[in-house]
Amino acid sequence: MLAYRHAFHAGNAADVLKHTVLLEVLARMAAKDKGFLYVDTHAGAGSYRLGERMAQRLAEYEGGVGALWRRDDAPPAVAAYLAAIREFNRDGVLRVYPGSPRLAAARLREQDQMVLFELHPSDYRALRAEFGADAQLRPEDGFNGLKALLPPPTRRGVVLIDPSYELDSDYTRVLGCLRDALTRFATGVYLVWYPQLQSLESSQLPRRLKALAPAGWLHAQLTTDAPRADGFGLLGSGMFVINPPYGLRDALAAALPWLAAKLGTAGVARWVLDAHEP
Ligand SMILES: C[S@@+](CC[C@H](N)C(=O)[O-])C[C@H]1O[C@@H](n2cnc3c(N)ncnc32)[C@H](O)[C@@H]1O
Repeated sequence: MLAYRHAFHAGNAADVLKHTVLLEVLARMAAKDKGFLYVDTHAGAGSYRLGERMAQRLAEYEGGVGALWRRDDAPPAVAAYLAAIREFNRDGVLRVYPGSPRLAAARLREQDQMVLFELHPSDYRALRAEFGADAQLRPEDGFNGLKALLPPPTRRGVVLIDPSYELDSDYTRVLGCLRDALTRFATGVYLVWYPQLQSLESSQLPRRLKALAPAGWLHAQLTTDAPRADGFGLLGSGMFVINPPYGLRDALAAALPWLAAKLGTAGVARWVLDAHEP
């Protein structure tokens, strides 16, 4: 059964990158009136109380959102992300970290739709308590469930694929899910988060994703930590976007060096931004 709980990691540097990219994409999708479908194939609990036991155990948010959220010198994409976090912490104390469903919900309009998949029973219960009837919630496998939703009736859609990668099969399932999704809905915007680890699966994933996306992609990677001698631990993370909206690259070109400087270990921090436009 699934052991991963996002509450242990909520608000860490990987979430900062993921959610900054997600909000940029959603802002660009909202530039057109026509509604779009937002799907989160791995939604998590919705939002996280940072004072609670799981978040406090490793306190990863302190090296992520906690290190940034009082800053007023962030480049626009990060400033928009920090403003979104502040909306959930209006009294000036960082108590709540909104996960991807909460951040997206705050940006979607009446004409947009949201579908959230979550397999872990406890996180699904939390999601249901938080969203009730305000979203379409599915306690199902997100890789499989996505199929039935594509193409969306409006032919506009954003899909966040954010597995925990606790199972090695997640790497091949990401690729299989995208291959299928692109045959059903080639013009969708797909965002894939992945961990940067000392493993072959993780280091090969960006190259394998590029091979799937002839119509255009963007790859952003933020390295914050040095490799550990035992070979375990997160070095950083990446976001791979298929069919990136216009302007995303420029926004991230300003954001990534700033994030690397503020969140990365000195001498180790680096970032990658590359893109292919057909
Ligand atoms: C990294 S967390 C999601 C975090 C969330 N997207 C966010 O950014 O706030 C991954 C979640 O996927 C769930 N999960 C794992 N395998 C799944 C599957 N096959 N389908 C749907 N959910 C799954 C886990 O229980 C976990 O809550």
